[in-house]
Amino acid sequence: MIKHCNAWSVTCAVCLSPFFILAIRIAYLYDQQTFVWTPLSEGKLKRPGVGDDGIWDATANESQSNPFSVRDLNSDKRYAKPETNCDDLWYYGSETVSLEDQPGWQPFNCKMASYRNLSNLEECGRRLSKKRKKRDTFILLIGDSRMRQLQVALFRELTGRTETMQFTTNDDYCDKPEALNLTWYSEILQTCLFHRIVEPYNFRIGRWWAPYFSEAALAGPLRELIALPAESAPALVLINSGLWFLKDCGDRRVFFEDCFNSYTKNLTILKHELIQLTDRSTVVWVLQNNLATPCPIPSESKKTNAQLQIMNDAAVGIFADTAVKIWRSYTQLFDYMGSNGDDRHVGDEALATEVQIILNYLCNPVTQTDPGYCCSQSS
Ligand SMILES: *[C@@H]1O[C@H](CO)[C@@H](O)[C@H](O)[C@H]1NC(C)=O
Ligand SMILES: *[C@@H]1O[C@H](CO)[C@@H](O)[C@H](O)[C@H]1NC(C)=O
Ligand SMILES: *[C@@H]1O[C@H](CO)[C@@H](O)[C@H](O)[C@H]1NC(C)=O
Ligand SMILES: *[C@@H]1O[C@H](CO)[C@@H](O)[C@H](O)[C@H]1NC(C)=O
Repeated sequence: MIKHCNAWSVTCAVCLSPFFILAIRIAYLYDQQTFVWTPLSEGKLKRPGVGDDGIWDATANESQSNPFSVRDLNSDKRYAKPETNCDDLWYYGSETVSLEDQPGWQPFNCKMASYRNLSNLEECGRRLSKKRKKRDTFILLIGDSRMRQLQVALFRELTGRTETMQFTTNDDYCDKPEALNLTWYSEILQTCLFHRIVEPYNFRIGRWWAPYFSEAALAGPLRELIALPAESAPALVLINSGLWFLKDCGDRRVFFEDCFNSYTKNLTILKHELIQLTDRSTVVWVLQNNLATPCPIPSESKKTNAQLQIMNDAAVGIFADTAVKIWRSYTQLFDYMGSNGDDRHVGDEALATEVQIILNYLCNPVTQTDPGYCCSQSS
């Protein structure tokens, strides 16, 4: 179900006309500065399985031509089903419809508890704090504005705030005092750091603005994290990167092939730091969701989405033999529940579910005894 397309169904009829598509393409060719991808057709290497225009050719014989093919989920170890029901939280789940006819999401093999229920959340905070001998439970988010979105949502959930985003003041999501003067879409706010301890539950939320996941920017800070005393290590580190890499390549008119190589090289170098982090922290690589676009997807977004998919597949491959977990339900929730109205950020329903996934992962080991719950003490 792609909810956000429904409103466009009328437009779709018009858009689907071949003339319209042709017009879009011609307009696009004259204005290549406006979007993030770089056409592959200008020469150099072509990724097998991707057509001249850079669009993924789903009809190509993938087993033969596409080195990143992951379509056979059962035999590809990169898509192996989770070994514990705890990891089901990060894996694909089932899309459900609740009584209120609201879309919902459930992992396949276990139940989720609700930490929207304040008494459950308080219980979790008390027990985690006791288990960790009063030390805080540190959640660190590293990446782009999608990680900022999660940070704001987590912070609001843990502080019991119910107001919607536009009524949230800037100091709720930014550690710069002058942030109060700025508007929500300011670049400074976007990039600002965040590091708070949330009383009374002793949760600590940190965020690093690092949209490129590049060695130059992150090798140092990651090593500092690894060097922290064990009791200060984060419980959970969530990381993403992808769209900004593509955007930067587009701005500099770098071919996707080169962009992709630079992305995978950075991931491969920093993989060693992430492996070291997994000794003490759960490290989760958050896949990049597609750009949500009106039906039918304009060709340039389709291209960017095909490229993001190739980058996701590569990240999954790079971390396949490590303890780094892959958050697949993140992109499933975006596809299922839609965006927040812009084309790249998840909507409120998906965001709320993502916050519950994180809290179930951290809280269930101390609050749930019923083995039916994901990550429960006895599962
Ligand atoms: C795809 O390629 C494989 C390996 O070359 C070959 O065995 C198979 O017959 C091809 N399938 C199709 C549908 O062309
Ligand atoms: C919250 O959870 C507790 C214990 O699990 C339960 O007794 C209570 O009824 C729940 N409250 C709400 C409002 O659902
Ligand atoms: C923000 O506002 C405060 C008080 O109104 C002022 O002192 C400060 O200089 C402003 N900061 C910026 C960056 O404009
Ligand atoms: C890592 O990414 C940056 C772009 O953020 C790029 O300039 C650099 O060359 C990449 N590193 C490698 C080793 O490819």
